Amino acid sequence: MVDRRAWVATLCGLACIVTACSAPEDHPESAPTPAPGAAGIGDDYYPEAGNGGYDVDRYELDIRYDPDGGHLTGDTTVVARASHDLSRFNLDLRGFTITSVEVDGKPAEFTREGASELVITPSAPVNRGSEFRTRVRYEGEPVVADRGQLGGNGWYHTPSGGAYVFGEPESASFWYPVNEHPRDKAAFRLSASVPEGWTAVSVGETGEATTKDGWTTTTWTEDTPVASYLTMFAVDRFEVETSSLADGTPVRNAFAPGADDARDEAARTAEIVEFLESRFGDYPASTAGGVYLATNPGFALETQGTPTYPIDPNPELLVHELAHQWYGNSVSVHSWADICLNECFASYTTWLWAEEKENADLDARYRTRIESMPDELWAQPLHDMGEGNEFGAVYEKGPVAVHALRLRLGDEAFGELLRRWPAEHANGNARWEDFEQFAEHVSGQDLDEFFRAWFRGDERPADEHLHPKPARG
Ligand code: TRP
Ligand code: ZN
Repeated sequence: MVDRRAWVATLCGLACIVTACSAPEDHPESAPTPAPGAAGIGDDYYPEAGNGGYDVDRYELDIRYDPDGGHLTGDTTVVARASHDLSRFNLDLRGFTITSVEVDGKPAEFTREGASELVITPSAPVNRGSEFRTRVRYEGEPVVADRGQLGGNGWYHTPSGGAYVFGEPESASFWYPVNEHPRDKAAFRLSASVPEGWTAVSVGETGEATTKDGWTTTTWTEDTPVASYLTMFAVDRFEVETSSLADGTPVRNAFAPGADDARDEAARTAEIVEFLESRFGDYPASTAGGVYLATNPGFALETQGTPTYPIDPNPELLVHELAHQWYGNSVSVHSWADICLNECFASYTTWLWAEEKENADLDARYRTRIESMPDELWAQPLHDMGEGNEFGAVYEKGPVAVHALRLRLGDEAFGELLRRWPAEHANGNARWEDFEQFAEHVSGQDLDEFFRAWFRGDERPADEHLHPKPARG
C-alpha cells in the first residue's frame, strides 16, 4: 500500500517535470510536446485523488437508476480546459462497465487502473488552453459503501427499497466520472430518470419533473462551482416540501419514508440560516433545505445547499451542516490536510448558536473542555494531522482551539475574521496557512506561536496560549 502510493507520487512528480519542461512560456521557440495529465491532483494524503492536466468547468450528467435491481445507466460529459498539451488524461470512476468514451465527439481509447483511475487517450492531443468535452457512457450496479473514516463512501440501500450515494472525501466517483478533488470545483448539471413512483434528489436548483414511458425525469442545476464530494444522489419514496427564504432562495426539504422526526428541525432552516448570516454574511449557496434520511449512515454531510442528514437530527446538526455552506463549501480546502478550515469552524458554530439561543457561557465551556481534554486529543494536530487522521481531532479539539483564538483576538477582531474569511475566498479554495495569515492581517497581531501551539502542535498548549490575554490590535 505504502509502496504503491510512493510509486504513484513519484510518477506524478515525473509528470509535473515533463509538463513544466514543455510549457510554452518556458520555451517559446520550441513546439510543445503533448504530455499525459498526472494521475493525481497533488494532494499529499490522497495521491490518486483528482487528476492533473486540466481544469473542469462543468459536469453534465444523464443518469437512469432503477432501485429494483439497482442498475444505473450513466451518460456523463465532462467539460474541461487543458492546462498543458494533453496526450492523455485521467478521470476518476469506481465500478461500472464503460461502454464508450468520446473526446470532442471522436471515439477515444481508455483503460482502467487501480480502484479509481480511468485513463483516456484522445484520438488527437488536446491543445493547452482549449476547452474539450469528454463523454463517458457506463452502466452497472454501483459499488456499495464499506469504508471511510466516518461514514462510508459509496452507495447505501434504504429500508424502503431506495438508494443513495454520498461521502467525503470521495463519493462522486461512485456515480460519475470526475476530477475527484475539492481543488477542482465545477458547475454541476444532472438529469436523472427513475421509475415512476420513485423520487430522485440531488443538489442545485430543481427543475420540473416530467414522466414518460414509466420513467420520471428531473433536472438539477448548480452553476456555482461545487466540490464534487458535495454532490449527492438519492432515490426513494421521498416526500418533498418546497418553500423559500426571505431573499427568494429556494428551500427544498426531502423526507425519506420514516424521517418524520426531522420535520421540526427542518422547519427551523430559515431561522438557522438567518442566524448564520448574522455571523458570516449572506448565505452563499443557491439553494437551502435538506435531505432527511430514515437511516443512520453515522454522519451528516454538508452536501451543497441541501445537506444530507441521518435519522433524527438535532438543531445543532443543522447548524453545523449549514455553517459548512460558508466554511467548506463556498471556501473549500486546497488539500485534505486543511480540513480544520471546514470542521473546526462548523463545530465552533454550534457554540455560537448555544451562546445566542441559550445564553451559554462559552468561556466556562472552554475551561471545562481544556481541563477534561484527553491526552490523545491534545496529541493530534488540527492542521496536517496525517493521512487517515483528518477527522480525528477537528470536531472536539477544533472548536476549543477556535474559542482560544477568539480569546486571543477579542470578540471584535474575531467576529470580523469570521465574516471576512468566507467573503474574501467565496467560491474558491484556501489553505490553512492562508487562514493563519488572514487572521494576522485582520487582527494586526503576530499569531505564529499561538497557531503553532493550538493548531499545529501535538501537546497541550502552554498556559500563555491556554489563557491568552487579548492584545488589542
Ligand atoms: N463532513 C461531515 C460533517 O462534518 C462528516 C463526514 C466526513 C462524512 N466523512 C464523511 C459524512 C463520510 C458522511 C460520509 O458533517
Ligand atoms: Zn462538518
